[in-house]
Amino acid sequence: MGLFLTIEGVEGAGKTTAKKVVLRWLQERGCEFIETREPGGTPLAEQLRALVLAEHEEQVSDTTELLLMFAARSQNLGERIEPALAAGKVVVCDRFTDATYAYQSGGRGIDEQRIALLEQLVQGDRRPDMTLLLDIDPEAGLARASARGGLDRIEQETVEFFHRVRSVYLQRAGRFTDQYVVIDASQSMADVEQQIVTALQTRLG
Ligand code: TMP
Repeated sequence: MGLFLTIEGVEGAGKTTAKKVVLRWLQERGCEFIETREPGGTPLAEQLRALVLAEHEEQVSDTTELLLMFAARSQNLGERIEPALAAGKVVVCDRFTDATYAYQSGGRGIDEQRIALLEQLVQGDRRPDMTLLLDIDPEAGLARASARGGLDRIEQETVEFFHRVRSVYLQRAGRFTDQYVVIDASQSMADVEQQIVTALQTRLG
């Protein structure tokens, strides 16, 4: 039936490393999978990503940002995610709608009911089957992210913004326990990898 797995966390939490661990685990088991990311994942959605993450001379309104995230999502879902799931594949997606709750509701302060409306409109009943939340103190995450250089428009937000983002992620993890696995991303790389492998084995066997 396919499986929809998403990876979430604040900037610098180690999503890229986590994704590599997940993909290797799937490969070793001979699972068919596709890899994608949000915003992005198709040529049009990648253009929307570039637009929403770029600096603009005008102020980008919170609603514009929200709609661009869902516009990209609609495209990625229709073109890549739904067909892969229908073909019985595992879809590994770097961020999804949980990020919209965390960033646009937690970070920006948009009412979560508005996000829920768009979620229903764009996704119907589609929700991730499993979400790995790479949890780290935003200060530590931002230090890692800025060491990589070239922070995008959203990554340049204040530390308080990312504390709110983290807090919504953790609230959602507490609420949707069947979906979420929280990974302590402050640990060593080897330890984080072990936590992820254990989560995959426990949930997917
Ligand atoms: P990434 O660089 O981790 O791939 O994510 C791109 C940025 O977009 C990151 O700062 C988080 C942000 N984002 C949102 O604000 N809302 C969303 O719904 C998604 C998917 C990402």
